[in-house]
Parts: sequence; structure tokens; C-alpha cells
Amino acid sequence: MQSRLVIDYRNATDVAVGTEHGVSLAMLNAVAPKVAAEHGRILAERAAGDQRWMNLPDDHALVEAILAFVDSVKGRYSDYVLIGIGGSSLGAIATIMALAHPYRNLLPAGKRGGPRLFVLDNPDPEKVKATLELCDLPNTLVNVITKSGQTAETMANFLVAKQTLEAAVGKERASKQIVATTDPKDGLLRQLADAEGYTTFPVPPGVDGRQTVLSAVGLLPAAFCGIDIRGMLDGAAAMRERCMTPEVLENPAYLLAAISVLADQQRGKRMLVTMPYADALFGITDWFRQLWAESLGKRLSLDGKEVFAGQTPIKALGAIDQHSQIQLYTEGPNDKLISLIAVDQYRDTVTVESVPAGIPDLDYLKGAELGQLLDRECLATAWALTQAKRPNFTITVPTIDAGIIGEFFYLYQLQTVMGGALYNVMPFGQPGVEAGKNATYALMGRSGYEKLKAELSVVPADAERFRLS
Ligand code: PA5
Repeated sequence: MQSRLVIDYRNATDVAVGTEHGVSLAMLNAVAPKVAAEHGRILAERAAGDQRWMNLPDDHALVEAILAFVDSVKGRYSDYVLIGIGGSSLGAIATIMALAHPYRNLLPAGKRGGPRLFVLDNPDPEKVKATLELCDLPNTLVNVITKSGQTAETMANFLVAKQTLEAAVGKERASKQIVATTDPKDGLLRQLADAEGYTTFPVPPGVDGRQTVLSAVGLLPAAFCGIDIRGMLDGAAAMRERCMTPEVLENPAYLLAAISVLADQQRGKRMLVTMPYADALFGITDWFRQLWAESLGKRLSLDGKEVFAGQTPIKALGAIDQHSQIQLYTEGPNDKLISLIAVDQYRDTVTVESVPAGIPDLDYLKGAELGQLLDRECLATAWALTQAKRPNFTITVPTIDAGIIGEFFYLYQLQTVMGGALYNVMPFGQPGVEAGKNATYALMGRSGYEKLKAELSVVPADAERFRLS
């Protein structure tokens, strides 16, 4: 398989939007030696056993194990409840949103190709209760996904699902309806899975949660929904192959990293908007938002200085956001870089056959095809943004299929790793997230967190002064 993504970045350059707002070829050439050196470092780290996310497209044994498991329970389940949060759910959601029928859960079982899918990420009591009430519990598979094996939201949602399942089918049978995707050796969920005999799949060690989409974390739910997971990995591998060049102007991931970071650091574009013109790709923008934010939003540089790095990722959807955020993007502060995603050929063709007589202003829609309309809106938006000197670039895909989604996943991950190098921050780890996780444990009374709980319990003397009730 060959990579098929096309990137047109002219509108992000000074040629199109002027020197004040555009990244110049001179700027890209100036950063080229750094990019090439970092490329060498990334490959050397991979060869030494790090950067393990880069190897996920090669795990064919895992793919076969997943497909064999899905096959072994074919027709057994009507409902599949995915329990996980952040990197443990966003990749699967993005994949299934892109590649399954938009109303998959509403299709009759014969047409759906697998169980209905429900995701419990937020521990919102209203949604959790409604979801479990909707599921046919004797025929429900619960897939709990957590790399650390202890995230409060995931474990709380899981324990609720487990107790509900046990009440419906009994403890022994319930344990057969639970699949745990977690660390192969460590963590609380691993302990529980081993004790209760759940089927398990591994979260690969040495890979951050947000880089696990091409592991069992993303692939198992996708396979249950009938997605071509082999095709996804082939697409990712094709993008990896394309990204083997150290040349910033030839490597799509490095080019996008360089444009984004230079636009931020030298042109004041503190935000990066991703705006696909396809509902199916909206989940990818959500997944990318977490990846870009959590990887690059860092207080400290690699040499320990306070830098408060990062570019705020924003998700938008064309054409809907033309009637919402685009006004701000076009006339508000010129502080954004905008990434449009266009689709050459949508998977369906829908044509306006006729228009009512006597309303000539509607005649232009006669014979119009909706995909063509959306595509022209994308072009029109690029044009309008450029006219207003708002830097933007367009990624075009030939169509939306498993290979293209695999390409996006690999592209954005490598772009983010190179983004970390250009910001001089560590793209792995998430100390800011861990701080909040620990505070939650303390507030919920987890043992070992007593000191933090005491700190959090101190009420400032002037608290009342700032409370409006
Ligand atoms: O990217 C990350 O590492 C995080 O977003 C995690 O995926 C998220 O916090 C969930 O963690 P876990 O999979 O350990 O439950």
C-alpha cells in the first residue's frame, strides 16, 4: 500500500498570507538541519527499543489474535460496552466514527456487522445508568481499557458495570463477559483480571496511552465493529515508509510539525484548528486534539527551563463551523493556523434532482451533488481565510477508508513527536494530568494519598469573600 494523503500548504506561507502571518520557505529551510538531526535521533531511539509506538503497525500476531477472538464469539453478543478514557477511548471512537455506518447502533443486527457499541468514558451517573439499562446484559461484552490499570473514572465505571452484570447473570458468567485491555504485568486491573480470569489483551509497555490506537486498545473495539484493522495497519505502515526521509519539505509529518511550531513561535499562531469537511473525520480531530495538547503542553523544556510550551488544538467541522466559528477565525484575532481536511470522493453520492419552479435563486442547486457542495465549501473557506490573511493548509484524502485512517494516525503521531523536538519539550508523559489524577485519588480517600488530602482540605481564610450564592 502507498500513502495517499496530499498536503497543500501554500496558504500557510508568506506567499499567500504575507510575511507577518505566513511561514516562509526560508524559515522551513532554516529548521531543516534540526529536523534532520531529530529524525536521526528518533530512528536511533527506535532501534534501541524506544519510540515503540512506531512498531505497532507490524504487530500482525496481535491482529490475528484479535480477529480470532472476535471470530470465536461471533454472534454471541448484541452489545459491547467500551470503558476507558482519554488515550484509552478516543482512538477507538475516532476509528469507528470514520469507518462504520454513522448510525451503526440503529441498524438491524444482520446489517450492523457486530454488536452495538457504547462508550463509558465520563463517570456521569446519568449516562452510565442509561447505558447499562439499554444493554441486554446477558448478551453484553464489557471491554475495560486502562494502561495504568487504576484511572479513577475508568475503574469506577467498570466496577459499576461489573456489579450490574453480576446482578444480571451471576459472578461466574459475568467474568466470562469481561475483557480487560491493560498492562501485561502491572496495575490494579491486571491483578483483578488475573484473579477473576478475564480474557485480556495487552496495552504495549513503553507507549503512552494517546499512542496506543494501533494496539489492542483501538483495534479490538474496531474489529468488533467490523472495521478492516489489517487495512488500518497497512495504511499506518505506508505513512511510516513515506516518513522515512529526513527532509522537512518532503516528509509530511515533519512538514506539518515545522509549519505548526514555526507559526506558533514566530507568527503568533497560538492555536491550531483542525477542520475536516466530513462528519466521519470529526472523531480524528478529537483524538488529535488530545495528542497535540497532552504531548506538547509542557511547563518545562528538556533542559529544565520553564517554557510553558504548546499550541492549543481546536476542533471544528466543515461546513457546520462556517456558520459558527469561521466568523471568529476570519475576522477575530489572527492567532490561529487552520488545517482543513478535504475528501476527493465521499463514499456516497447524493444529488439534488430537482428544484421548485419559480424560485430561480435555487436553480444553482439543481443537479448539485452534496459531496461536491461540501468540497467546494472547503475550497471557499480556504480562499476566504487566505483573503483575510489567515494561514491555513489543506490535507486531501482520495476517500475515507481503513488505510487513510491508519495514515492519519501515524502521520499525527510522528508530527507530534517532531513537534516536541522543535518545542524542545518531552512529548511523552503527562505530569499535568497525573497531578489531577492524584488529587482525585486524595479527595476520594484512596489510601496512600492522606498527605495530599490534607493539603487539599485547607479552606482559604477568605474563601467566603469570593463566593456568590
Ligand atoms: O495519553 C495518556 O496517557 C492519557 O490520556 C491516558 O490515556 C488517560 O489518562 C487514561 O489512562 P489509563 O489508560 O491509564 O486509564
